[in-house]
Amino acid sequence: MKGIVLAGGAGTRLHPITRGVSKQLMPVYDKPMIYYPLSVLMLADIREILIITVPDEKASFERLLGDGSDLGVSFTYVVQEAPRGIAEALLIGADHIGDGPVALILGDNIFHGHGFGALLRSCVADFVRGQRGATLFGYPVRDPERYGVCVVDGAGRLVDIVEKPERAPTNLAVTGLYLYDAQAVGIAGRLSPSDRGELEITDVNRAYLAQDEARLIDLGRGCAWLDTGTPDSLLEAGQYVQVLEHRQGVRIACLEEIALDRGFIDAAACAALGRAQRSAYGDYVQAVALARDQQSESRGASTALVG
Ligand code: DAU
Repeated sequence: MKGIVLAGGAGTRLHPITRGVSKQLMPVYDKPMIYYPLSVLMLADIREILIITVPDEKASFERLLGDGSDLGVSFTYVVQEAPRGIAEALLIGADHIGDGPVALILGDNIFHGHGFGALLRSCVADFVRGQRGATLFGYPVRDPERYGVCVVDGAGRLVDIVEKPERAPTNLAVTGLYLYDAQAVGIAGRLSPSDRGELEITDVNRAYLAQDEARLIDLGRGCAWLDTGTPDSLLEAGQYVQVLEHRQGVRIACLEEIALDRGFIDAAACAALGRAQRSAYGDYVQAVALARDQQSESRGASTALVG
């Protein structure tokens, strides 16, 4: 399954912060925002990832992330000339997607929770095995009017989605992670722009619903889905990451650690990535690699990282 991170948009709600730099390059505590959605795709074992940026910032994302080979993945880049809607990502990414399924994630969405990676891997495996339709992820929020909102029947089945309604029918927001089968590009190609001149992702999801092929997974309260759209929510997201990382001693969305855990790279490569970053983050990456190497050593397969 191919992956796309949509990291364009004007980020106007964060002006003046985002007048000089893309929102998705802003720090969320100890790492750039785009690390979080990238970590989601990598946790799902998705290794071919297209990153869509604004024209002016493509080079900055490339400088940050490179071609992904040091993480055992592939990052490619393409620009969205103007913010013409989230669903345009499917058209811009049509060649990348080919005739298979795709996972699209918004570059400003942060997910975190126990079992989230395993859940995603099982959803992705269903698509790889030929499952049709769309899988969407819902999350209960206090202010659903700010999002796409799920309408569900008595049995909790998704029956409709309404985009930023004045009065929300439920408190279940549609998060910015969308898993689609090979129909997605064709569906996006048939959309007309909305009143605000955008190709709306909610219209793609409603097209799947009309075919009775959209399913909803409620992430529930055991998972965190964080917003970064305003100065307050950006700060709160950073504080969330800081509190958890300090308390647990592990880092959230550490791409090097995920690459190691998923077997994309070995401990020696992970240690080298840590050494190349002279920061507490780099020290953590090295420590993760060393711990992994010591585990391997106890199984008789050390790669001699120290020295
Ligand atoms: O975050 C989840 C929500 O994302 C969903 O609940 C909504 O259904 C969906 O429409 C979307 O709502 P937003 O109001 O958050 O969309 P926004 O226009 O802010 O765009 C979300 C991100 O996508 C943002 O970081 C910028 C990027 N983007 C957006 C557009 C419209 C692009 O890269 N290109 C675009 O053309």
